[in-house]
Amino acid sequence: MRMVDLIEKKRDGGELTTEEINFIIEGYTKDEIPDYQVSALAMAIFFKDMTERERADLTMAIVNSGETIDLSAIEGVKVDKHSTGGVGDTTTLVLAPLVAALDIPVAKMSGRGLGHTGGTIDKLEAIAGFHVEISKEEFVDLVNRHKIAVIGQSGNLTPADKKLYALRDVTATVNSIPLIASSIMSKKIAAGSDAIVLDVKTGAGAFMKTAEDAKELAQAMVRIGNNVGRKTMAVISDMSQPLGYAIGNALEVKEAIDTLKGNGPKDLEELCLALGRQMVFLANKAASLEEAEEKLREVIRSGKALEKFKEFIADQGGDPSVVDHPEKLPQAAYQIEVPAKEDGVVADIIADEIGTAAMWLGAGRATKESDIDLAVGLMLNKKVGDPVKAGESLVTIHANREDVKDVVEKIYANIRIADHAEAPVLVHDIVTE
Ligand code: URA
Ligand code: CA
Repeated sequence: MRMVDLIEKKRDGGELTTEEINFIIEGYTKDEIPDYQVSALAMAIFFKDMTERERADLTMAIVNSGETIDLSAIEGVKVDKHSTGGVGDTTTLVLAPLVAALDIPVAKMSGRGLGHTGGTIDKLEAIAGFHVEISKEEFVDLVNRHKIAVIGQSGNLTPADKKLYALRDVTATVNSIPLIASSIMSKKIAAGSDAIVLDVKTGAGAFMKTAEDAKELAQAMVRIGNNVGRKTMAVISDMSQPLGYAIGNALEVKEAIDTLKGNGPKDLEELCLALGRQMVFLANKAASLEEAEEKLREVIRSGKALEKFKEFIADQGGDPSVVDHPEKLPQAAYQIEVPAKEDGVVADIIADEIGTAAMWLGAGRATKESDIDLAVGLMLNKKVGDPVKAGESLVTIHANREDVKDVVEKIYANIRIADHAEAPVLVHDIVTE
């Protein structure tokens, strides 16, 4: 097989065979096929697309380029959740104990990464003593006994994706549905769960800016998952404004605790229930989505979900008393209010820009080397659709520096007040095939 012939075939709209796709990904992983040929192929895929079969084959070729996680020692149906990324997205911290409280095993492998705030692991490390440096054996044992554990990313998972993603980044080929879908799904499949619930975000703070694009991506990923034998569903959710009120690490831990107590922000609770009911259903713990949702509400009401969170924290060395005493979480030195300049209704809180303001405070990493400040971030006091009077606080800045003029300006530039506005629809669509 010659790579040049495969590039030509795709350039002319042909369909690559399973063997051809395996040849390309194996050759690229081993540095036998050069970047310039793979970038030409990526551009051909960008314009000519891939069939469903090609997409599934590409995903599995990427999975097979490295190690995979074997969760077979864990009893029950393992359901993973993945979000395509947003601002102030605290759902994992809520969903993991919520679902585990229904005896569904949550075996979560998580990363740190870049962004407006840290990843799930960074957030959890705001709890004194909590750590994810546990052995594989301990991880499996915790999930079997208590149904929940989080471990840091280890091993050589999907090396082909790392190379391909970096190459796409510099060849204007990131924005291709078959390439995005196979990239995301390969990582989820390599992580070993039996079923996958996807939260595909749409809006200013999302990778996919329009609901149509988000739906196309969701469908592509759901089909890949189902075609390779992992039950997969997707929820398409709004990310035009940040999720919940908190954007920051310790602030989001507190928000997750509030939500597990049944006192969280309405939108965060609604999304957690929308995702959670799919997870419960895919785990065969309910006969219908309605029954699944009722079970989730019941473990919030009874306090079982909160108890599960405490157990989880204690299991991994953390101090569970933060649940009853959130003031023990890292606190920023300064709290600065940002008052509204006029009366009206909040019409826009541009998610990605507000997320960047939180990053400027130190809540997230701009580069891999950046340090993160777990205490800082933003608390929204208003959401889109809320009436506001001049002088009322729109946002409380939690900072460890006294001068926050840059952040205040960024906030004013990205919160719009109008005469009329309505809260956006949170859950746009559910994709099951
Ligand atoms: N996120 C991924 O992991 N891969 C992509 O290709 C795009 C977004
Ligand atoms: Ca939040």
